[in-house]
Amino acid sequence: EKKKIKDILEDKIDNYKDVIVMGWVRTKRVSKNIAFIEINDGSTLKNLQLVILSPDEHPLAEINRGASIKVKGYLDKVEGREQDVEMKAEEIEIIGEAPEDFILQKKRHSFEFLREIAHLRARTNTFGVVNRFRSKMSYAVHEYFYNKDFKYIHTPIITSGDAEGAGEVFKVTTLDFDNLPLTDAGQIDYNQDFFAEETGLTVSGQLEAELLATALGDVYTFGPTFRAENSNTSRHASEFWMIEPEMAFCNLEEMMTLMEDFIKNLFKFAVEEAEEEMDFFNKWIDEGRRDMIKNIIESDFGRVTYTEAIEILENSDHDFEFPVKWGIDLQSEHERYLTEKHFQKPIMVYNYPKEIKAFYMRQNDDRKTVAAVDCLVPGVGEIIGGSQREERYEELKNRMEELNMDLEKYEWFLDIRKYGSVPHSGFGLGFERLLMYLSGMQNIRDVISFPRTPGSAKF
Ligand code: 4AD
Ligand code: MG
Repeated sequence: EKKKIKDILEDKIDNYKDVIVMGWVRTKRVSKNIAFIEINDGSTLKNLQLVILSPDEHPLAEINRGASIKVKGYLDKVEGREQDVEMKAEEIEIIGEAPEDFILQKKRHSFEFLREIAHLRARTNTFGVVNRFRSKMSYAVHEYFYNKDFKYIHTPIITSGDAEGAGEVFKVTTLDFDNLPLTDAGQIDYNQDFFAEETGLTVSGQLEAELLATALGDVYTFGPTFRAENSNTSRHASEFWMIEPEMAFCNLEEMMTLMEDFIKNLFKFAVEEAEEEMDFFNKWIDEGRRDMIKNIIESDFGRVTYTEAIEILENSDHDFEFPVKWGIDLQSEHERYLTEKHFQKPIMVYNYPKEIKAFYMRQNDDRKTVAAVDCLVPGVGEIIGGSQREERYEELKNRMEELNMDLEKYEWFLDIRKYGSVPHSGFGLGFERLLMYLSGMQNIRDVISFPRTPGSAKF
């Protein structure tokens, strides 16, 4: 009977005889009277040790690291080893051979090197763990919202808008670049394009999520998000996954409470349900990670207004490269100071100057700030951006006009402020940033299976 290594090692099987296991060879040791092969099938970090008692009877010479094999045999309890079960192989069949020069050696490879062979890196311990962790944490996101009766909605990938208004949209077109149709004014004539208008890949599902929240109540998206942001940093990817809850009848304060609860629940899930992965990160990536995560679950996030944050920075004796003054966008050095030096824990900074935030955020009574909130964490910086939305028709329209936005194009967005408008709020959590924080991995390219970054879209 076919079995997964995970179930075997966790003793979740009822029959120790006639077991069939399939996997990829990690190591092989052959001597005259006995041979050992370790295989991994992706179900767990751990390998299953195969013991071959009559090496001559099996095609061991052709089995190299990386090859896939099918083994039939019986399981044996053993003591004093890392695993307490091993398999005595009776029949070994090669499914797919691997040449001797399989690129993944037994030694540890650098993450930089592994990025260049991203098609194979999932076969390493680290990236096996990372991929399983991604999968588990995705489930945790859905579980959290399912239990709170949020509706999981699917917002479009191809859109005609720029939800963040930051000009970072990847274009989607079927126009022939060698023969672009032009208008009389000499502009590209998007009427002749596939959708008869200019389109691109979504930078956020928020605007559409607002439409559905103002009909369904509480909703969330969890999908791929694209930004043609030319920042080559360890925290930016051109394609990343974002979780965006949107709640009707909800103000900033209530939203911040949900945000903290959501993060803590994800952390709890990681510690309790992703034990193997957290063990691995704790051992190989950052010692003490698990305790740090546990501490966060137990303590409250800091809450400060942007204005208070600026005061803290101004009153510190730290020398910032980028001068601090009310109105600036917080730079990563400022975020780091606040979370790593001053508060030493995750913080929520709210009420930002309207000039540095998106058009849809609700203006506060001071008319200078908007009801925006960013969640910042030590080591990674911003993991969440959110806000209470401007639900007042006139206010929103005025702001959009101030910013020279095309009102006609966003008529649908203004419409929901016309018909039964309600206070509503939402935020976006960058899934990769969350994974970086939980794992201690330092580069966003190493928490997504196939990273897209400026100059790199291979695999
Ligand atoms: O702060 P951002 O731009 O907010 C929005 O997109 C809102 N529409 C969300 C909402 O209110 N529904 O992005 C939200 C989060 C950031 O805090 C960050 O974690 C992540 O998305 N993010 C990125 N992650 C990886 N690579 C990038 N280039 C990212 N840009 C944003
Ligand atoms: Mg942001």
